[in-house]
Amino acid sequence: MSTELTLQSPLDMHLHLRDEEMLKLVAPLTAQTFAGALIMPNLVPPVTTKESALAYKQRINDAKKYSDFEPYVTLFFQEYNYDFLKEIKDDIIGIKLYPAGITTNSEGGVAAIDAEALRPTLEAMSELKIPLCIHGETNGFVMDREKEFVPVYEALAKEFPNLKIIMEHITTKDSVELLDKYDNLHATITLHHLLITLDDVAGGMLQPHLFCKPIAKRYEDRDALLKVALEAHPKVMFGSDSAPHPKHKKECCGCAAGVFTAPIALQVLAELFEEHGKLDNLEKFVSLNAQSVYEFTPVEKTITLIKQDCIVPEIYEGFGENVVPMYAGETLKWSLS
Ligand code: NCD
Ligand code: ZN
Repeated sequence: MSTELTLQSPLDMHLHLRDEEMLKLVAPLTAQTFAGALIMPNLVPPVTTKESALAYKQRINDAKKYSDFEPYVTLFFQEYNYDFLKEIKDDIIGIKLYPAGITTNSEGGVAAIDAEALRPTLEAMSELKIPLCIHGETNGFVMDREKEFVPVYEALAKEFPNLKIIMEHITTKDSVELLDKYDNLHATITLHHLLITLDDVAGGMLQPHLFCKPIAKRYEDRDALLKVALEAHPKVMFGSDSAPHPKHKKECCGCAAGVFTAPIALQVLAELFEEHGKLDNLEKFVSLNAQSVYEFTPVEKTITLIKQDCIVPEIYEGFGENVVPMYAGETLKWSLS
C-alpha cells in the first residue's frame, strides 16, 4: 500500500475564485496545491473585455500567496468578432458559454444556442484555436437538463469540427458516451460528481453544501464518470468546479448552487483513486490530460501527499468572508506533506 504520493503540477481546469474578499480567502487554498487553474468568468459583471480579463488575472495573482500557481483566465461567451478575438487570444485559455440564467451569475449568457446564430464567433474561435467551454444544461426538468443538452453538443461538434469543445462538469453517462463519438469533444469532471448522487444531496436531510449545478445524478451516471476518470481517459480532465458561497447563502432558504472543494480536492482524489487501485492514473487525470487537451506546459510544481489522517476544517474564514468546505469536520485519509 502506498504511503506517499507525488504529483507533478496538478491542474484544476474549472475553478471559481470570485472576487474581492472571497477571492482573497479562497485563492491561496487552490494555489497551495495546484500549479494552475482555469478560472471561470462568471463575475458580476462577467469578464468580457481584454481589460477586465487582465485586471482579474492581476487581482488573482495579488491574492494567491503562492508564486508557483498560474491562473488561466477565460472570457464569458458573447458574440465576439474575429479582430477582438485575435487581439485577446494569448491572454485567455478559452471562452465559457453559459445558457442564459442556468446557474450562478449567468443572466448574460446565450438565450438560444443556435449554431447558425453563433457561427461567426465560433468560426473565429476555431480558426484562432480558442477552446469553447460549455455549461451544458437546458432549462428543462432538473434531472434531464444535461441529457437534453446532448443534441446541442452534437450539433456544435459536427458544425465546428475544428473547434475544441469542453463539456464542463459532466454528470451523466450520456455525456460520457459523447467523448468517443466526436474527436473535438472533451470534458471536465468534478470531485463531487465522482463521489455523490442525488441521494446524498436530497435523499435524507437536505445537504445544502452538496447542492450544485448540474445537480448530482443517478448511480449509473456516477459509475460512468468514475470509469473514465479512474482510467484517465485522455479526453477527461479534472475540473473541481469548486464554487464558494458564504455560509449564509448556503444555509438558508434559497440555497446558492456550488460545492466548495478547493482545499480538499487532491487529498480526496488520492483516497478515491487509491481505493480503486488506480493511483498510477491520478497524475494523468489531474495534470497530463489537461496539458495535452489545452496544449500548454504548466509551471513546475511537485506536490507530495502522505497517507495520514487529517480533519477538514468546519469553515474557512478571513477578510470578513467565510465558506464551508465539502466534508467539513470529517477525516480524510491523505494529507498534504
Ligand atoms: C457555480 C457558481 O456558483 O458559480 N455553481 C455551481 O453550482 N457549479 C456555477 C456553475 O459552474 O454552474
Ligand atoms: Zn462552474
